[in-house]
Amino acid sequence: QRIPLIAGNWKMHTSLGEARALAGAVVSACEGLTDREVMIAPPFTALATVAEVVRGSQVRLAAQNVCWEEQGAFTGEIAPGMLRELECRMAIIGHSERRQIFGESDGLINRRVAGAMRFGITPVLCFGETLAERESGQTMAVLERQVRGGLAGISVVEPAGMVLAYEPVWAIGTGKTASEEQAQEAHEFVRNLLFEMYEKSIARQMRILYGGSVNSGNVDALLRQPDIDGALVGGASLKADSFERIIHFR
Ligand code: 13P
Repeated sequence: QRIPLIAGNWKMHTSLGEARALAGAVVSACEGLTDREVMIAPPFTALATVAEVVRGSQVRLAAQNVCWEEQGAFTGEIAPGMLRELECRMAIIGHSERRQIFGESDGLINRRVAGAMRFGITPVLCFGETLAERESGQTMAVLERQVRGGLAGISVVEPAGMVLAYEPVWAIGTGKTASEEQAQEAHEFVRNLLFEMYEKSIARQMRILYGGSVNSGNVDALLRQPDIDGALVGGASLKADSFERIIHFR
């Protein structure tokens, strides 16, 4: 009963022209699809342009981050209300690049999640272990810390309004996907965690996406796993034909 979500994270890519063209291709690729949802997250600079392109289509617009405050002295940040003005109702939060390169902590990420939800923005909360953490047997402990930390004090009443994304850091941009078994194991662990944290009916319906070198060749097998409810796609979401094939996973 969980509707699969295919999400494209464009990261720090695309000029306005490229964004317009790519968004147009995604809109066309989605025509007539009713059994899955599609989301794209352009850079902030392209949100307004892409909002125009996706308006009236089923493609959802997301930001790649969001602040928790309504306005104020927060140089470099974007308020949830600013996103809503652009018809942007989702935001990726806690991506490993934010954690690793920009030093975002679980506490900070938790504030972003809470702020997003307060303003009606659906968080796509990312988490995942590094290679060193996996090799030293800490994977599940890291996932638990990041999921519990990111969701601390957050009550979820509408499961569609909270999306999680497991992205093992060693699989991001490396061409090394987690095997279906590795991914399913992590997703099942997180699902059980959600059962501890939330009511059964809510936990059962929350979507957990997989991200990390998803491409047109591996998407079908990954999405066949029982606890993998979609994909968060980086590199392959920048190529219209690859992303179209991923959207049409079977
Ligand atoms: P790649 O698909 O390029 O590995 O990136 C994954 C990712 O970080 C999506 O958020």
